[in-house]
Amino acid sequence: MNPAGQGGTWDRPLWRSLLPIGRDERTGGYRRFSFTPEGQACRDWFLVAAAERGLFAEADQNGNLWAWWRPAAATDAEAGAIVTGSHLDSVPDGGGFDGPLGVASAFLAIDVLAERGLAPVRPIGVVAFAEEEGARFGTACLGSRLLTGAVTPDAALALADEEGVRLGDAMAAAGLSPQAIGADPLRVGRIALFVELHIEQGSALAGLGAAVGVGSSIWPHGRWRIDFTGRADHAGTTRLADRRDPMLAYAATVLEARVAAAELAALATFGKVVAIPGASNAIASAVHAWLDARAPDGGRLSALVDRVIGAAEQAAMEQGVQVSHRRESFSPLVKFDAALRGQVVAALRTMGLTAPELGTGAGHDAGVLAAAVPSAMLFVRNRTGVSHSPAEHAEPADCEAGVAALAAVLEEFACR
Ligand code: GLV
Ligand code: MN
Ligand code: MN
Repeated sequence: MNPAGQGGTWDRPLWRSLLPIGRDERTGGYRRFSFTPEGQACRDWFLVAAAERGLFAEADQNGNLWAWWRPAAATDAEAGAIVTGSHLDSVPDGGGFDGPLGVASAFLAIDVLAERGLAPVRPIGVVAFAEEEGARFGTACLGSRLLTGAVTPDAALALADEEGVRLGDAMAAAGLSPQAIGADPLRVGRIALFVELHIEQGSALAGLGAAVGVGSSIWPHGRWRIDFTGRADHAGTTRLADRRDPMLAYAATVLEARVAAAELAALATFGKVVAIPGASNAIASAVHAWLDARAPDGGRLSALVDRVIGAAEQAAMEQGVQVSHRRESFSPLVKFDAALRGQVVAALRTMGLTAPELGTGAGHDAGVLAAAVPSAMLFVRNRTGVSHSPAEHAEPADCEAGVAALAAVLEEFACR
């Protein structure tokens, strides 16, 4: 490893070639949404990276991409595989590292092994899961949930984006076949270990002075859509007493979410809200809002969501508006296997890396995979501690350390 990140794996064109894709020049953030031209450009990047390394690449029926480095003497090409990767899609105006860091590091870790003259005795897979952020279709980790059967084909095919485009039609427009969408037990059964490298979405590693950490747990979390329906009317002529304004019910709900989250030591966020029809001189006819709720345990998460929904119903009654809600996405508490974590920490120690263990409130495909296969996570220090924002940043030397760490894990599990 080159600690300065100069002349090392991180200087290679692989990462640089991904940087322009889906970047908004005005904000500096990324808009890489699934099954769009930008999403397709990311997929093409993946296929080129695989081809450059002589890896066999394929898309599964759920839109996830896989690239395989197979052992020379393998009879069943993917059995007992050690799989690593993450996702390439982003939130609106997301940072460049959330997701792609894990995919690029996977290819670069393979380079490290190959340059050391190592060859896998078990297959190594690189995966890019589709629609991890749920930014287009609302369900987080959709690709990995479909793969493992955590979301049914019917539920997935009922999803539509904001323009009303259904998931199946979006996949078909991107040249994929949604006909066989759904659980793939054969593919899952071939995975002996999944390890996801991800930028840390906080500043714990910076505080600990460590470039790399190992994931210990993921808070339970989910998103709920809340729809307030009132009555559109003129902003200049409708007496306050005559209004049925859904914005007031929404505002009261946001404030109660903040109070409830603070009392429960949890997190509640309304980061997306749509006012219909969106005229500055009209009372809205409807407000659609999305609650993102996360807590250290399932009990507190349920209590938080109940309080927020209760507040929405109370405020709706007071304002004379209708309210309805539905859960769009849910992830239970994940505790990564302690023995496996210990093995990963030990593998990193052989590289001279001391990796602290960290829990996180951010969701990941590794959290979904953990319900089906042994799974682990590596985190790379985030200089700003900020994520889901253009300000997200990992220093090249830390990315380099992440590649070295991932290579050590792949060597330990796939090359011995
Ligand atoms: C994924 O980044 C999430 O935690 O929402
Ligand atoms: Mn994210
Ligand atoms: Mn991510």
